[in-house]
Amino acid sequence: MNGGTVAVTAPAKINLSLGVGPVRPDGFHALATVYQAVGLFDQVTVSDADDVTVTVRAEARLDVSGVPTDGSNIVVRAARLLAEQKGLERGVAITIDKGIPVAGGMAGGSADGAAALLACDHLWGLGTAREELLELAAELGSDVPFAMVGGTAIGTGRGELVSPLMTRGEFWWVILESDRGLSTPQVYAEFDEMHLGAVVDDPEIPDELFQALRTHDLEALGKALTNDLQAPALRLRPELARALDHGRAESAFGAVVSGSGPSCLFLCESRAHATQVAAGLAERGFGHVSFAPGPVHGARVVAADA
Ligand code: C5P
Repeated sequence: MNGGTVAVTAPAKINLSLGVGPVRPDGFHALATVYQAVGLFDQVTVSDADDVTVTVRAEARLDVSGVPTDGSNIVVRAARLLAEQKGLERGVAITIDKGIPVAGGMAGGSADGAAALLACDHLWGLGTAREELLELAAELGSDVPFAMVGGTAIGTGRGELVSPLMTRGEFWWVILESDRGLSTPQVYAEFDEMHLGAVVDDPEIPDELFQALRTHDLEALGKALTNDLQAPALRLRPELARALDHGRAESAFGAVVSGSGPSCLFLCESRAHATQVAAGLAERGFGHVSFAPGPVHGARVVAADA
């Protein structure tokens, strides 16, 4: 043990478009999505230790009671996966500082997984090639490779195949959190129930979305935001429909459920516009409201003393 410590931050993700296709033989749904990393971050700090341990800390607004601190936590799976891949037997003390809502449809767990992989790689001085880290990330979860890459990107496969997408300028998102999270498998199950007996088409990304991102046309982007998991999420949380309507009435260019929900997103043109829309939503008591710009970087080392 050399007493080193490494800290890595990783961003929340939103889906500007989330097309869900048929269930594949492995049980996952085929996806075609446009991801964007936004400026809400979790930080994962790792230190040399005899055993693998997890501590979870959070900003006061976040309920982290549902985050496991045993071997089922994605950060532990990430550390063990990397150690196993490299033939190492290492303990590590892992601290997660959460800034991303838990079970909010913003891939906070995936951000932690990506951050833990990168942090352990650095702590153990492995210098693993990017491609190999992305393959390990995909084993941890469908959204984990994107948390590594960040920016704006197309996701295919079950979401784990990521290709960066060039966009123009900055986007501002108001993010409405919910007191209670939603389980991703449960929302997918609801999607399946809604499509029982029907043929589910291969997932697609609307051309209008690509066009709007290329030209930074917020009016068009607001209209092109789509999410096939929105209808099932709203069946489980009907009250979110009012929040979406209210955000549009508050002058957001578009409103959509984030991933499998329940967080909701509202597109704005600037920090000042986001402040105004956020204040309007907060006044109505729908839940905790924040705002963040996108795109931002993926997982990266912010402190290293290894
Ligand atoms: O890959 P990840 O662990 O994030 O997936 C969580 C759950 O979400 C899966 O167990 C599955 O129920 C559902 N899922 C899916 N199709 C995807 C991604 C996730 O059905 N493409």
